[in-house]
Amino acid sequence: MRLSRDELKTLMKNKMMAAGLSEDHAEQTSEILTWSHERGYASHGAVRVEYYSERIFKGGITTNPTFTWKETGPCSGILDGDNAIGYVVAKEGMIKAIEMAKKNGVAVVGMSNMAHSGSIGYYSEMAAKEDLVAITFCQSDPMAVPYGGTEPYYGTNPISFAAPTADDRTVVFDMATTVQAWGKILDKRSQGASIPADWAVDEKGAPVTDPHLVNALLPIAGAKGYGLMMMVDIFSGVLLGVPFGKHVSSMYHDLSQGRCLGQMHIVMDPARFVGLETFKKSMSQVCDELNAMTPAPGFDKVYYPGERAVMRRDKAMEAGGIEVVDELVEYLRSDDIHFDRYDHKNRFAD
Ligand code: NAI
Repeated sequence: MRLSRDELKTLMKNKMMAAGLSEDHAEQTSEILTWSHERGYASHGAVRVEYYSERIFKGGITTNPTFTWKETGPCSGILDGDNAIGYVVAKEGMIKAIEMAKKNGVAVVGMSNMAHSGSIGYYSEMAAKEDLVAITFCQSDPMAVPYGGTEPYYGTNPISFAAPTADDRTVVFDMATTVQAWGKILDKRSQGASIPADWAVDEKGAPVTDPHLVNALLPIAGAKGYGLMMMVDIFSGVLLGVPFGKHVSSMYHDLSQGRCLGQMHIVMDPARFVGLETFKKSMSQVCDELNAMTPAPGFDKVYYPGERAVMRRDKAMEAGGIEVVDELVEYLRSDDIHFDRYDHKNRFAD
């Protein structure tokens, strides 16, 4: 069913507050979840609230955290998030990075000891809205084989970048470094459908089409995606002194413990390079040229990254609200906080 933006956000906020999150943190988190859901990233929207509520309720998210900000140079710093909800830590880190980049031209800000921060495009977009260019990377739990390997070693380690234009368009690229998210495998299991052979592997590292045999996800573009997920883990894990590679905590392992994840924002002020106005004008030109290109057979248009997400949001608003599956709405409207479904769960189990 369709919910208005306000109703969806308020329901998610209230549920996380009922689980024990502060009003401020629940407000910020539900705003970012709504941002994702309305852009068509339902996998990073309302569906996550029950899991967060269970972790909050069981103590694996610090609800009254002490953030520690250490400026390590004119252009660098680390924010220790005290295992608070990741959305608030990543947002706070981006606020610091924006301030620093405006002052000193460049900012490299790491966040350590945080929980999951959702769709990371939100944070790079924050910088673009302030006329800055940004990249952000974060760790996620080990689910992907290295190229040629048999065991999960890296997470779906996402990468996002964003840049402003001279008009109201914002380029926001935002992707996992695996071919598909784990949620898509679960969808196929529930439909009784098979998966394409380039999505995942079994215990021997061989490609599988039966979603029940999946033991790990495959990186995008073979060895190239493997290199990218390693890069993400170096920037947002090894560099920050948090667990890295296969030592990154599992999302569903022990919901009473903090996840100790890392994230990295790199923000640059175009004024220190080509100049802000020239940069923005050139970015508008890039978007115009891409949009004007004759599309290939089977395509309706060439889009710039992030364009379709905004179109999905606008379409949802025109249609009277954001589509949310009925069972999820029922849960959000109920008095239930969680159903004890995630703690100590093997993510590859049926
Ligand atoms: P996706 O495959 O839907 O999109 C990836 C990128 O490709 C987007 O920037 C999109 O704008 C662009 N794109 C897609 N189709 C396009 C087209 N026709 N023309 C132009 N550009 C196009 O994204 P994916 O990989 O499924 O990731 C979904 C979300 O999951 C992201 O928000 C990501 O941040 C989040 N995520 C978060 C993780 C975490 O641990 N916090 C882990 C993994 C993913």
